[in-house]
Amino acid sequence: MEVMVQKNDPLASEENCLVLGCYQEGQLDGSAARIDAISGGAISHFLSLGDFSGDCGQCQLIYGIPGIPAKRVLLVGLGRKGKVRDIHFQKAAEALGRSLSQAQISEASILLLECPVAHRLLPDLASILVRAIGETQYHFDHHKRPAEKPLRSLEKIRLAVPETAEIAMLEETARAAESALAIGRAVKWARDLANEPGNVCTPSWLAAQAISMANRLGLDSHVLGPAEMEELGMHLLLGVAQGSLQEPRLIVLEYRGGKPDQAPVVLVGKGLTFDAGGISLKPADKMDEMKYDMCGGASALAAIQAAAELQLPLNVVAIVPSSENLPGGSATKPGDIHKGMSGISVEILNTDAEGRLILADALTYAKRFQPDVVVDIATLTGACVIALGHETAAVLGNHEGLVADLLKAGRKSLDRAWELPLFEEYQEQLKSPFADLSNVGGRPAGTITAACFLSRFTEDYRWAHLDIAGVAWKSGTPKGATGRPVPLLVEYLLQRAGQ
Ligand code: BES
Ligand code: MN
Ligand code: ZN
Repeated sequence: MEVMVQKNDPLASEENCLVLGCYQEGQLDGSAARIDAISGGAISHFLSLGDFSGDCGQCQLIYGIPGIPAKRVLLVGLGRKGKVRDIHFQKAAEALGRSLSQAQISEASILLLECPVAHRLLPDLASILVRAIGETQYHFDHHKRPAEKPLRSLEKIRLAVPETAEIAMLEETARAAESALAIGRAVKWARDLANEPGNVCTPSWLAAQAISMANRLGLDSHVLGPAEMEELGMHLLLGVAQGSLQEPRLIVLEYRGGKPDQAPVVLVGKGLTFDAGGISLKPADKMDEMKYDMCGGASALAAIQAAAELQLPLNVVAIVPSSENLPGGSATKPGDIHKGMSGISVEILNTDAEGRLILADALTYAKRFQPDVVVDIATLTGACVIALGHETAAVLGNHEGLVADLLKAGRKSLDRAWELPLFEEYQEQLKSPFADLSNVGGRPAGTITAACFLSRFTEDYRWAHLDIAGVAWKSGTPKGATGRPVPLLVEYLLQRAGQ
């Protein structure tokens, strides 16, 4: 999808669709009111029929509007005038994106940036529009027989900037649209990786995808297999993989956009390509969704891709420990004790708490990059879904400033997170009679005790953990990966880059 950001001139627009906003009770404003006047009141005539209320997200295509070159007008409901908030604007943008793709419209001129939205300027609105529309154009159907008549897709959108906007604002809006496109490509890639079934997306396949992206964008890549892991003493990661025929991988990508001595941001993503639970086997219901247990890894790879595409002046490292968790004959058994690269021994009481084990070795490995900060991203606990549902990710960490920056990036990108406490008292739950740590802390505060476990391996640097178990994919219809929290991560990197 191509995006153009231009000053408003709806009459010059040759696009085959003009997208206009309409507030509740059929109130037209700004460009919409102007076009209504030019058309001799054709739009208000339509509204007078009472079929369209202007509720947020309502969409209606109307044809044959006189006086304008566009062949169609898409009216989009924005909700109550003066009360439009960013989440409403996003909802309207998603709805218009779906309408355009349903009608197979390939080009559209969108006149919505003039809508006042609390705490959001033009660049933010452009970014919300580009991302929301982009996400509605997503399909994952390459395993299906091809449709006889391929669908026409949205190729070009023009975002009209109000005539009153200063030139600097126009430029900033165009830059925001460019960043939003890069975020959109990263989100799409993360969704593509995650939606592949477990028989395709194995640790070695994931590594191959990462390497090919790295080669395309000139990133350094390095992939460790079982022999190197053995040498480094990564027996927590190896222990998770030992029940499976697929070998584990530790995928490491490096983007060097900053000064050579600038300490990097290290993103560590859980890349469990299928989590059956191991010997502590999961129930059959919805077990297919455990192919999504690599969404954290996909988001780390996608975020570093966006950083490289946007040529951010930062050094970024992505580390993805990748494995399956299956109940094979040589699988780890409850009660087994493994010692990881850090030297800490772990009694594995529940083999389904495997994410923290593979992350522990990856987080220990992260030290060698002398990071400025480390952020790990993981579909780590079912408890997080109970605590925060499917809207909000959990964030926990050992550094207030880093946690605050991530929360801020989440608010800005509408990919929100909320902090849970990492009080020392919770560490008690991880005591083991036989090893330095137990890998589970009982039912209370499952998300917090999982983070407590990770915190034992991150004492040497500033660290935060994102539990994305509730937000990484959708179960209903449409089912599939969301690409979250790629927008949050890239926004965090953009802010660090001062952009
Ligand atoms: N990948 C799962 C967490 C998960 C479960 C995410 C369901 C999304 C939906 C993780 O490996 C896991 O199984 N965690 C266990 C931990 C427990 C055994 C302490 C869980 O949450 O049940
Ligand atoms: Mn598990
Ligand atoms: Zn898991």
